[in-house]
Amino acid sequence: METRIHIFDTTLRDGEQSPGASMDEHEKLQMAAQLERLGVDVIEAGFPIASEQEYQGVRRIAKAVKTCHVAALARAVRPDIERAASALEPAAKPHLHTFIATSDLHLEHKLRMTREQVLENVHNAVSLAKSLVPRVEFSAEDSTRSDWAYLVEVVKVAVAAGADVINLPDTVGYTTPSEIKGMFQHVIANVPGSDKVIFSSHNHNDLGLAVANALAAVEGGARQVECTVSGIGERAGNTSLEEFVMAVHTRHQVYPYTCGINTKELVPSSTLLSKITGLVIPYNKPIVGRNAFAHESGIHQHGMLANSQTYEIMTPESVGRSRSELVLGKHSGRAGLASRAKTLGYELDAEELSQLYDKFIDLADKKKEVFDDDLRMLIVALRNEEFEVCHLEMVRTYGGNPSMALVRIRRGDEPVIEAMATGDGPVDAVCRAIEKGINVEGRLEQFDIRATTPGKEALGEAYVTVQIQGKNYKGNGADTDIVVAAAQAYLNALNKYIALKASFETQEAPKAAQG
Ligand code: KIV
Ligand code: ZN
Repeated sequence: METRIHIFDTTLRDGEQSPGASMDEHEKLQMAAQLERLGVDVIEAGFPIASEQEYQGVRRIAKAVKTCHVAALARAVRPDIERAASALEPAAKPHLHTFIATSDLHLEHKLRMTREQVLENVHNAVSLAKSLVPRVEFSAEDSTRSDWAYLVEVVKVAVAAGADVINLPDTVGYTTPSEIKGMFQHVIANVPGSDKVIFSSHNHNDLGLAVANALAAVEGGARQVECTVSGIGERAGNTSLEEFVMAVHTRHQVYPYTCGINTKELVPSSTLLSKITGLVIPYNKPIVGRNAFAHESGIHQHGMLANSQTYEIMTPESVGRSRSELVLGKHSGRAGLASRAKTLGYELDAEELSQLYDKFIDLADKKKEVFDDDLRMLIVALRNEEFEVCHLEMVRTYGGNPSMALVRIRRGDEPVIEAMATGDGPVDAVCRAIEKGINVEGRLEQFDIRATTPGKEALGEAYVTVQIQGKNYKGNGADTDIVVAAAQAYLNALNKYIALKASFETQEAPKAAQG
């Protein structure tokens, strides 16, 4: 029997649906490039029918990704399927993922369809998808609360219509390991031709069982596992990619399977996601949390010194974390910086390297030790700047409460803007000064600030969500001065609004000319 497990990553679709995890097109592209480095088999890039932006985002990822399949989600209806197929056109390896619910609860209350109607729908949707895209996945949403006999009928129809992958999701995180294993065994044993398709498991973590259920599903015959980086996703999240992969890797005798993941990219993937979205990785999160390899008690430290295996079942290096995360000193050259950035997974061109070097020296001047996470944060901030319309050149604040702020902003070749404002504290004052300077008003919906690494001189990361004209824009910034980090984050969000507005204006211009 095939022992290779395919890793289907849905960070950019199911993960991105979770509160606080939304990403713009450029951020999704950065994440997709990292997922390719990580070695996933499938990247689910989004749900193209949801919006024009989502459609364009999937299309750009489809064009950029070369080694993995790129999947697009579609409900089992013609407009969704055609839109998804169109978004996948530029993909080297397209994968269309269509779904419909199969539990009586969903049929009665959500779909208002009979079992027969759903069967017909499955046939039509999979046949249409297969006529447009060579690889088709069918998901029976809420499988784990569906009647097994009916589930078998649904899967028979999907397989006969040409589905290549059959996914049986635990949509609400309700099942248990022994139950899900039984479900896969039952369906696989009762569907003719089941050996010709790949069975897939997609689990939510409402009871904290997603990883355990994915492992049990594999024991029951699933050969694809759908997961997300750091386990982000609807409600309590999805199967955590790093936990599933390292369970298979570390307990190979119990789980004699392989997957194509480069485990050294696990921590970089999780860190990048956190830097992009601002989602905090819990310190005690397995594999990727800050404390996952920290040993505090004297007894443990003693054991570790004698032999690290006494208290570690895997090494930090194997998941992409070095024991000493000290990067470089103030006197390090450009070559050293480029090589360290490369080790962390970032290929920088000469221009980027030169900009990064200036930022790095600036940071190394303020901070004695520069860590890998600092460097990652600098690179994420630098790549944000490529898309910025307005650039923050200077921030000064005075006083306590109220505070006064002065900002200097550059917008392309236009004369430099200086603006001053007062506010309740320095952060409020800089945000008001920025708004005044660029003439855009927003409402700060969320503001998070945290240190990148331990220590008094740590780099402060700021994440904001700003509401402008009823729509939310996210921004981030990093600086050793947290007020400057907050100002950068605020301007970053406002820049996204300005860029989006400009893109609509350019789209609308020809229409206006016609009229
Ligand atoms: O949880 C779920 O059932 C899903 C499907 C669309 C696969 O996300
Ligand atoms: Zn899901």
